[in-house]
Amino acid sequence: MPVINRIADFHDDMTAWRRDIHQHPETAFEEHRTSDTVARRLEEFGIEVHRGLAGTGVVGILRSGEGPSIGLRADMDALHLDELNEFDHKSVNDGRMHACGHDGHTTMLLGAARYLAETGNFQGTVHFIFQPAEENEAGGRVMVEDGLFEKFPVEAVYGMHNWPGQSVGTIAVSEGPMMAAFDLFELTVTGRGAHGAMPHLGIDPVVVGAEIVGALQTIASRVTDAQDAIVVTVTKFHGGDTWNVIPDQVVLGGTTRSFRPQVQDAIEPAIRRIAEGVAAAHGATAELRYERRYPPTVNNAREAEIAANVAAEIVGETNVDHHPVPSMGSEDFSFMLQERPGCYVWLGNGPGKAGCMLHNPNYDFNDEILPIGASYWVRLVENVLSQGA
Ligand code: NI
Repeated sequence: MPVINRIADFHDDMTAWRRDIHQHPETAFEEHRTSDTVARRLEEFGIEVHRGLAGTGVVGILRSGEGPSIGLRADMDALHLDELNEFDHKSVNDGRMHACGHDGHTTMLLGAARYLAETGNFQGTVHFIFQPAEENEAGGRVMVEDGLFEKFPVEAVYGMHNWPGQSVGTIAVSEGPMMAAFDLFELTVTGRGAHGAMPHLGIDPVVVGAEIVGALQTIASRVTDAQDAIVVTVTKFHGGDTWNVIPDQVVLGGTTRSFRPQVQDAIEPAIRRIAEGVAAAHGATAELRYERRYPPTVNNAREAEIAANVAAEIVGETNVDHHPVPSMGSEDFSFMLQERPGCYVWLGNGPGKAGCMLHNPNYDFNDEILPIGASYWVRLVENVLSQGA
């Protein structure tokens, strides 16, 4: 069973919706136009619409007889990025861009909603969950905190992300972790300022900071087991104003990624110990602020099997990757998976041309895959909420 014919029929409509959303990107919790567009289209399809969860979140409810309930989730937000593409649907909002394909995710779920509203070939309830602020700001967590699953009870929840570098017409899915946990940290290293020519009269926080950056790389494999994938990355190193003055202070910042809770638990104390220890060795001090952001995205076995079977129906068994290497990227769908069993899959977006991967200023969602993703959603619903289930 390849792409559903009726969905292929409205491929052009979906392409137009996707490009319209792409052209008008909005970032975390400010997705007002996008949210309005989604709500309006769902209403056009005859779907009951609830607004206001997590601010700009939208939930569509479609019932067809008695039966279980399923949640399908798409994210609506864009990134703070200047788009470098020059096509007609280029972003009109300066400094904002759909560089992660959430425009495509929103569109594929709308396509599925339209089809399911037309056909109603299932027994139960579908909740179409359109969430804000997937990037950095945990809109998924806010939806859960705002009572998503109390107001819209589901037995299972499913998510999807397009994946550049993975061929068009393929889907990757497995039980267990798909995406890493994401934390962030900031380290303030305080020494004592001095003349750049007489560093012995001060305590140079730049030198201390540099040593800390290197030492943090020993956490992977010297603190945590080498078998456990982790990343500790320093992405910021700020300090000093001029050529000949050693500053009092430098501030380092970065992110950590991991999969297992025990490993995630080990990282914060290790950063603190290393930073404070290295600083103390030089007579400086280091202060750590550590923030836990996203848990790992972990698929449940049963739902992963269901998703894999549906994927095989759409793209063919040989095009289902059952053993994808988990990504060190992160996803706030993880918060929904903490509350309900479910599964998150990657949909091939085609080759990332010239390094044009997610979060790249030249990225664009591949419209060719819109019917594939929408068909996957539809068959998933028709399988999970099959007649007489
Ligand atoms: Ni994304």
